[in-house]
Amino acid sequence: MPIRFHEQSRTFHLFNDQISCLMKVLPGGQLGQLYCGKVLHDRPDFDHLFECRPRPMLVCYFEEDEAYSLEHCKQEYPTYGVGDMHLPALDARTPAGSRLLDLRYQGYAILPGKPPLQGLPATYVEEDGEADTLRIDLADPDAGVQVSLYYTVFRDFAAIARHAEIGYAGPGTLELDCAMSLCLDLPDADYEMIELTGAWARERHVVRRPLAEGVQGVYSLRGCSSHHFNPFLALVRPECREQTGEALGFSLVYSGNFAARADVDPYHVTRVTLGIHPQHFCWPLAAGETFVTPEAVLVYSDAGLNGMSQTFHRLYRTRLARGYWRDRVRPILLNNWEATYFAFTQEKLLNLAGQARQLGVELFVLDDGWFANRNSDRGGLGDWEIDREKLPGGLAGFGQALNEIGMQFGLWMEPEMVSDDSRLWAEHPDWVLGLPGRRPHPGRHQYLLDMGNPAVVEYLYRRLESLLDGVPVTYIKWDMNRSISDAWSRSTEAARQGTVLHRYILGVYALYDRLTKRFPQILFESCASGGARFDPGMLFYAPQCWTSDDTDAVERLSIQYGTSMVYPISSMGAHVSAVPNHQLNRVTPLATRAAVALFGTFGYELDLTKLPEAEKQAIREQITFAKAWRQVVQFGTFWRLQSPFDGGDTAWMAVAPDGSSALVGVYRVLQQVNAGFRRVRLAGLDPVRLYRVTGPDGAVSRHYGDELMQVGLVTSDGSCGENKTGEGDFTAWLYQLEAEKA
Ligand code: DGJ
Repeated sequence: MPIRFHEQSRTFHLFNDQISCLMKVLPGGQLGQLYCGKVLHDRPDFDHLFECRPRPMLVCYFEEDEAYSLEHCKQEYPTYGVGDMHLPALDARTPAGSRLLDLRYQGYAILPGKPPLQGLPATYVEEDGEADTLRIDLADPDAGVQVSLYYTVFRDFAAIARHAEIGYAGPGTLELDCAMSLCLDLPDADYEMIELTGAWARERHVVRRPLAEGVQGVYSLRGCSSHHFNPFLALVRPECREQTGEALGFSLVYSGNFAARADVDPYHVTRVTLGIHPQHFCWPLAAGETFVTPEAVLVYSDAGLNGMSQTFHRLYRTRLARGYWRDRVRPILLNNWEATYFAFTQEKLLNLAGQARQLGVELFVLDDGWFANRNSDRGGLGDWEIDREKLPGGLAGFGQALNEIGMQFGLWMEPEMVSDDSRLWAEHPDWVLGLPGRRPHPGRHQYLLDMGNPAVVEYLYRRLESLLDGVPVTYIKWDMNRSISDAWSRSTEAARQGTVLHRYILGVYALYDRLTKRFPQILFESCASGGARFDPGMLFYAPQCWTSDDTDAVERLSIQYGTSMVYPISSMGAHVSAVPNHQLNRVTPLATRAAVALFGTFGYELDLTKLPEAEKQAIREQITFAKAWRQVVQFGTFWRLQSPFDGGDTAWMAVAPDGSSALVGVYRVLQQVNAGFRRVRLAGLDPVRLYRVTGPDGAVSRHYGDELMQVGLVTSDGSCGENKTGEGDFTAWLYQLEAEKA
């Protein structure tokens, strides 16, 4: 992956066989942006792409040059106050009170591979040959501010990973108020913006709108990446669709407050900025100190939204997620939450687990409620003492009992929280976030530990280590059930309170880091009231995430479709739950619930002991089916075919890496009468191979890949005439494709 520096024109060209990024040292020394997108032939200069011209009202840089103004130079890391009039990438205040920073080029280095980001999650390489990294150093020597911009270009992905490091040489302290991870100035605004938007139980719905002059974007100020917005946006050409057209995806590898914005100026230049939200952020830097921003990942696709998503999926599944479970198929689990909530005994749990085992489930997850004083969500958090009434043999005894029936043991916890009646709070009031003398604000009757305080992280690590030691736990669900408020740390001096929210997240990462190193074979699943922390930062530690508290099959179509814009299928927790559904009261067929959950890390979350024999048998068959297909679903290529947001049937598919098999899911929410004929055009198949297609009713037909992709799979059903099949609303159809041996 070449990184070229053309000395004469002072131009940097990063490229692989899919993506190019061009930057140039501008006449004033600032770092300019010339191009970012599909790969271009290299040449010694691209100076013609640098455009500046005199315009009224410009703030010029040189007395004798009326064209050169930072307002119109497309820049890589702009500041405010020296000519540029847009939202800056960097904003900092010197001890003299000045924010007038002028960052000028100092030099560069090309590093083999990709250096890690200290204390922060980031994409990585397994050997240096997979990537090269360019570091460009900028500085405002008068202000003592140094900025190093890092760009990694990967060999195998149409992606560039970026972050910035801001250093200070003194005197006194620099107050860093804004340090974006990525800034990209694009020369036009002929884009539509895609964001993932929602709320609790309806996370990551796809919203698309044309760019317009002004600032548009998404953000979180909830202390977590949030249900409401995701640290992602895409700019796509108006003609871009799932299979065709150009898209640029921007994703932030971070789990806290963020801002992702597209700022379109009246000359139709679009500035994208992505990074930690500047609100409530202020990081003082003393002489010699450096601040490292989270990583941002930019993906380019000329193969539509699927092309963009597939690059994110492969990169995040193989070079962001790590550890023992990264490449292993995930166990099929039963979680007791919707089966029992807090009301369980060991006997009840073992009955459930025994029943699940008989049907083929591999892992039993004991959710919330196993610790003392936890019969509702009003108490018990922080002390992590086992409730001996519920689990007389403790976790070890319960785990052993599970193992005896052939079931693995998974455990829920919520380490970052504390209840007000806990011993922990009584003994360490200074470990709870909030202003002294003022009661912090409750959320789900619980309060936040100051995760930025290393003593808190140390306590939690020791407590959890001793809880887990000797217990045969193979899975942990790490939950987080409230937004952050009262972000005041009693272990932090007044001048550093602007660091609290970011240090909270660094503390979460530090605890994850220690626990995953101490228990490397435990599969971690992150969770935050469902999907409030479904973000790339979490994937670095936990290769799966509980996608949403909404387990209704119809709602899950939108949630999983939207989540797949960025996140791999192997990361999406998806469970079959009871009907009437606990969130919506909707009644959907068991087969449909399974057909949706199959496109995720599959499991169940209902009281299996209450089901009639016929449903148990159906579940036994679903589990056999899931085991047969999970390798393809979790590690194959996922294609979105028809969107639930378009009003018709939803369709998606997963194709084995070698194209030899594929599983297609087609879903209809409301049945229609006497509808048109239907076909679903498939994708990702080998055009010249003959596929044996087994339909939902077991009927077999054979078709070449090109026909299935060009003409489509004929899915017309009873709704095209009289409905004799008995299929009603909320129906799903699964098609299994196996390539015939050549
Ligand atoms: C929220 C999670 O999303 C649920 O799955 C469950 O674990 C509850 N918390 C438990 O309190």
